[in-house]
Amino acid sequence: MLPPLSPEERRHSRSLAGHIRAQLAAAGGWLSFERFMELALYAPGLGYYSAGSVKIGVGGDFVTAPEVSDLFNRCVARQCAEILTTTGGEILELGAGTGRMAAVILNALAAQGVLPERYAILEVSADLAARQRARLAQLPAQLRERVVWLERLPASPVRGVMLANEVADALPCRRFTWRDGAVRELGVALAAGSGEEISFREQSAAADAALLRACEGLLASLEGELPQGYASEVCLRVQPWIASLSECLARGVLLLCDYGLPRRHYYHRERASGTLRCHFKQRAHADPYINVGVQDITAWVDFTRIAEAALAANLTVSGFATQAAFLLAAGLEGLVAEADDGAPRARLAGEARRLVMPEEMGEAFKFMALTRGYDSPLSGFALQDLRHLL
Ligand SMILES: C[S@@+](CC[C@H](N)C(=O)[O-])C[C@H]1O[C@@H](n2cnc3c(N)ncnc32)[C@H](O)[C@@H]1O
Repeated sequence: MLPPLSPEERRHSRSLAGHIRAQLAAAGGWLSFERFMELALYAPGLGYYSAGSVKIGVGGDFVTAPEVSDLFNRCVARQCAEILTTTGGEILELGAGTGRMAAVILNALAAQGVLPERYAILEVSADLAARQRARLAQLPAQLRERVVWLERLPASPVRGVMLANEVADALPCRRFTWRDGAVRELGVALAAGSGEEISFREQSAAADAALLRACEGLLASLEGELPQGYASEVCLRVQPWIASLSECLARGVLLLCDYGLPRRHYYHRERASGTLRCHFKQRAHADPYINVGVQDITAWVDFTRIAEAALAANLTVSGFATQAAFLLAAGLEGLVAEADDGAPRARLAGEARRLVMPEEMGEAFKFMALTRGYDSPLSGFALQDLRHLL
């Protein structure tokens, strides 16, 4: 059972549903799931990320690792320090959420004497950008002055680090189903007899050439046929996204963290209804057609697709590790041990367990390092290697 919508949430959700209904009508009654997800999350002024709900954190819909514990942020800071020591330059964070990770990273780098020339944030959500500004305004002046918000990727290529935690899973994805030996695209139509309440339903259609090509590629790499009625996701936005990031990376490391799997595990025949997840008030469920505009919609990341996109964009795939392996290699245990004995250490130990235990975030989340012109060590990847991608 999901919690009920507040009157304000209901009003907001109806407005966005009306907007999607108009888009459906203009498109002849059917939209791809990718377009639906784009509207649900990013329609200007109405989408989940464009509008004002709390979203991230304990009072919101979901909690990300940077909000679970600053141990996560301090480990990422250590990896950034190592990279910046080699490359100099800046940090560019994509989708910085509440700004908490940025604040912790800047403080940690200041303490180590390896501050970036600037800390740039590219955030598509005006609401989250406002929250980031409020939080980062509280930093000491010499840190605050280094933070800038960008409207688009920088025109002059970046030297240093690019960070993206839980951004790839928020890129709108296509959905497909496998029926009678063929791929069909899953999309959205208006549910019949909706009346006052606007509701949507899933409807399949012939797959277009781009989706067919992507599915042929992934089906060829799997062992055996998929079961009848199998449904899953494929994110065609990954390739242009990675290509655009690659274009503006002169030298350094793009560090991605997200929940996801290598392809052969992602499209396992037993994961027969895909990886799509919605988050509403700390509950996870699988129905993207309810609560539109007031719940998050995500799909797991196919890290093989990220690696392929990176190679096609002339980046090197230099590291791939579970979150647990990354954080432990980056010194998580030492950070816990440094804390004062008693309650402070016990609290950090609890947070560390949540970050690394396999049944919590430790295995489902992965770190990947994509590099250009960077041959120095990446200590966060010392405990695991690229064999996980095979
Ligand atoms: C799930 S939240 C993660 C936020 C934060 N990184 C964290 O871990 O708490 C996804 C974030 O990505 C942003 N986002 C989505 N698409 C983006 C894009 N193409 N470029 C930059 N940010 C994007 C969203 O606005 C949001 O801030």
